[in-house]
Amino acid sequence: MSLSPTVRDVLRAATAQLDRAGVDAPRTTARVLLAHVLGVSKEWLIAHDDHVLSPETQARFTALMQRVLDHEPLAYVIGHRPFYDLDLYVDARVLVPRPETEQLVDLALTALREVPSVPFACADIGTGSGAIAIAIAKHALCVRVLATDISRDALRVARQNAERYAVAARVVFVQADLLGAVWMLPPVIVANLPYVARAEIEVLPPEIRTHEPRVALDGGEDGLALVRRLLAQIAERVRAGRAEQWRAAFLEIGATQGEAALSAARTLLPEARATLHRDLAGRDRVLVLQRE
Ligand SMILES: C[S@@+](CC[C@H](N)C(=O)[O-])C[C@H]1O[C@@H](n2cnc3c(N)ncnc32)[C@H](O)[C@@H]1O
Repeated sequence: MSLSPTVRDVLRAATAQLDRAGVDAPRTTARVLLAHVLGVSKEWLIAHDDHVLSPETQARFTALMQRVLDHEPLAYVIGHRPFYDLDLYVDARVLVPRPETEQLVDLALTALREVPSVPFACADIGTGSGAIAIAIAKHALCVRVLATDISRDALRVARQNAERYAVAARVVFVQADLLGAVWMLPPVIVANLPYVARAEIEVLPPEIRTHEPRVALDGGEDGLALVRRLLAQIAERVRAGRAEQWRAAFLEIGATQGEAALSAARTLLPEARATLHRDLAGRDRVLVLQRE
């Protein structure tokens, strides 16, 4: 590369390097990273591809590139990730929110429209970066959300995101094991708990396997251990008369776990109607439970 490399030169070289290292979507990754370093949009890069980079910019870009070449998730390197209509702060303390999880927000918002006003209308179990809870609070202005996570570190990130979106007064974050902090079930429960089967973690891409928190991935032997435990806790509260207001639960699952999740729900919680909600590609994605 020349001593005064342009945007075009840098992107070309970075794309080739990322490609060789087996990083996903090398061209887009290079663009996102350079746009981040320059503080400009990806569109700006296209319109200014003959812009010459200063030595300081080159050095910063090289340092961040090295992290991506080491398979650190791009979202951690640039410190944020879009989710729903939010742009959330993320780092290695939380799972990078995934686009497929956005449908949990839609399902919960639809269910919440039918719910009378109560102090806590919704609980987000395993909130991570706060993605689901914050998107719900931002779009359902009267709703207060109880968001739990077993990871104190994750809750710090979630609180930071809630403040950024000015919903901190309506989202209460609590460190708890599943429903441990929830005495009465709220009308709507959402959860994107870890659902990767333990043995499968080792064959995931290095970005996930070595960088995302294990506690956010590990779903036990078949991936459904936490989902089953949550179902059992819901059932326990229903039977103990601590679920008067409870209407629905939406639990994200893996694409191959539909039948096993349905069967677990029908066994553990026969008081609810269990169905599967598919994603846009037609794969099973959400276990839906509705009070009969
Ligand atoms: C797959 S991540 C999802 C994070 C976030 N809800 C999202 O959709 O991006 C699962 C989260 O569940 C949390 N978690 C794991 N075990 C838990 C438990 N027993 N009780 C509560 N949270 C738990 C993890 O710390 C992690 O933040």
